[in-house]
Amino acid sequence: MQGFLGEERRGAVLNALRTHEGTCSRDYLAAARSVLTELVAVPELIQRLPLLRKPGGYTRNLLAGNEAVSVWAMVWGEGATTSIHDHHCSCCFGLVAGTLSETWYRAIDAKRAMATEEHARQAGYVACMLPTGPNIHRMQNRGPGEAISIHIYGYDHQLQESSIETEYVAVAG
Ligand SMILES: [Fe+2]
Repeated sequence: MQGFLGEERRGAVLNALRTHEGTCSRDYLAAARSVLTELVAVPELIQRLPLLRKPGGYTRNLLAGNEAVSVWAMVWGEGATTSIHDHHCSCCFGLVAGTLSETWYRAIDAKRAMATEEHARQAGYVACMLPTGPNIHRMQNRGPGEAISIHIYGYDHQLQESSIETEYVAVAG
């Protein structure tokens, strides 16, 4: 299995994620939150890894994965932005370094969404989202400098390309 973490830590992370009841259970989300809280508390552990970087864009670096979850370090160059999207699986993330702007959207129809709120997520921030409910968002690094985040998704990276369910186009409110 690919991964930047040592085998021992990789195994510890996957064990700690208690996926035996799936990746949408309250138990799992609490476990994912505590794994992320521990990882963002030691930013140097992630920062010293040979993570890929892409100026102006973002990269996904697989840290650990099994048939239930995949854990990624994402490096966000200044100006990097995701599409407006929602997820087909649970999505938990934590900020290791830098700041990301997270904009939330409300779907207007199957393809269009309107921004409802925006938050600056600082290093140390941790969030968990379920695939159901209003969870359409966009992440952006407006700088200064790069940002690094860790994402834990409830999907098998060997079977699915990404956690994205639907991409939307923004409409003005
Ligand atoms: Fe997302």
